[in-house]
Amino acid sequence: MSDRKVVLGSVYLLAAGAPDARSVLAETVALLRRERPHYNWVGIYLLEKDELVLGPYVGKPTPHTRIPLNKGICGAAASSGQTLIVDDVNSDPRYLACSLETRSEIVVPIARDGRVLGEIDIDSDQPAAFTEEDRALLEAVARILAGVL
Ligand code: SME
Repeated sequence: MSDRKVVLGSVYLLAAGAPDARSVLAETVALLRRERPHYNWVGIYLLEKDELVLGPYVGKPTPHTRIPLNKGICGAAASSGQTLIVDDVNSDPRYLACSLETRSEIVVPIARDGRVLGEIDIDSDQPAAFTEEDRALLEAVARILAGVL
């Protein structure tokens, strides 16, 4: 079995076994952080009205606990409903800095029936850390999370 399938299998199991949606989100961010060493900050934002509100995360505290849809890479991904990969955050004018060490970022919307419910946000201290493999893994994780939210 591929490594991606092993991680996805673990997310399926914890989604089936956790007592509530919030626990699934918390356990999922912890699992991703543990399984992928280049994921230095892993968090989930949930859409409330027209703001993204920080939910469970693993990593340093961020000042960006509420992000309007027209701000940041997070806002851009949620508005478009599309995954965004930024290889060099410092050259992207939309970027809202969370940590000086961060060099690249991926944001993956969590959507159900075409409606964005939230997103997975991951920062890496390595430039261009996120590949198509990361995208495939995280989009599959987002589909599982959409089922529990
Ligand atoms: N970098 C994000 C803000 C969230 S922090 O990375 C945790 C953005 O540009 O939207």
